[in-house]
Amino acid sequence: MASLVWLITGSTSGFGAEFVKALLAKGDKVIATARNPSKITHFQEAGAAVLKLNLAADQADLNKLAEAAIAIYGGWMFCRDDWIKQFQTHVFGPLGVTRAFLPHFRARRAGTLVFIRSTAAWGGIPTLGAYCASKSALRELDPFGIRTLLVEPGFFRTELLNANNTVYIDTKIEDYEPLTNKLYAQFRGAHHQQPGDPAKDVARIIEVVTSKGDAAGKPFPVSLALGPDAVSTLQTKCTDTLELVNEWEVVSSNTTH
Ligand SMILES: NC(=O)c1ccc[n+]([C@@H]2O[C@H](COP(=O)([O-])OP(=O)(O)OC[C@H]3O[C@@H](n4cnc5c(N)ncnc54)[C@H](OP(=O)(O)O)[C@@H]3O)[C@@H](O)[C@H]2O)c1
Repeated sequence: MASLVWLITGSTSGFGAEFVKALLAKGDKVIATARNPSKITHFQEAGAAVLKLNLAADQADLNKLAEAAIAIYGGWMFCRDDWIKQFQTHVFGPLGVTRAFLPHFRARRAGTLVFIRSTAAWGGIPTLGAYCASKSALRELDPFGIRTLLVEPGFFRTELLNANNTVYIDTKIEDYEPLTNKLYAQFRGAHHQQPGDPAKDVARIIEVVTSKGDAAGKPFPVSLALGPDAVSTLQTKCTDTLELVNEWEVVSSNTTH
């Protein structure tokens, strides 16, 4: 596969930063983006192009971003409180970026979209409904030769759970307090203790996109669990879902004319 051009959202830390590092080391062309580009000048010095991208921006600004990004290189792949904020960052933002780039992808009949979803999209976590719903909202799109990879990471050691990035909202309903207290304590305690190495997560995604390593010769997957915890969560969810559908098959099927 020829050298790719990658647009990375959220390049200041976590998966985004690991993508930029790994792709520059690999010799690919990288456009690193951040809400505050002054935080990623080190990537510019290391050879990446740097643009400002806030996933909460309106479509007109995202279209301008796409034009600016397309003008830098020319070929492609990219990755990527309350319910509205969750959906803005995890659904409407990525959709807006996708919408801005799709005309260019369609014209080329090629392009790859990588969305970092979550195992939370598969099962749901009580009291985290907004996060789970936002993560399950992104689905695949594959006409016109455009590939979509939905990545389902387990727990990876990024900045996701630090006090600035994860907003813990006090429940207004007393009944939920034991649940939220327990879960928030677990998440706070998990910060920087997560088993997953984000550099390895990113390395696996790059292997899949470029059909190298363990991904060589395999068909491009729609969905990719990353981390043994993610594999186990998805296996359990699929087994349980199959059992449920089979158990209710007679009732479920008795609906036609
Ligand atoms: N780590 C895990 O265990 C895990 C598991 C499942 C899914 N995920 C998903 O992976 C994705 C990346 O998270 P991470 O784990 O790498 O966490 P992270 O280290 O906290 O990185 C998050 C990145 O997103 C950027 N960002 C936040 N809001 C933004 C916006 N409105 N527009 C543009 N960029 C924005 C942040 O930039 P600023 O510096 O501007 O804040 C930062 O670069 C998230 O969607 C998360 O839900 C992570």
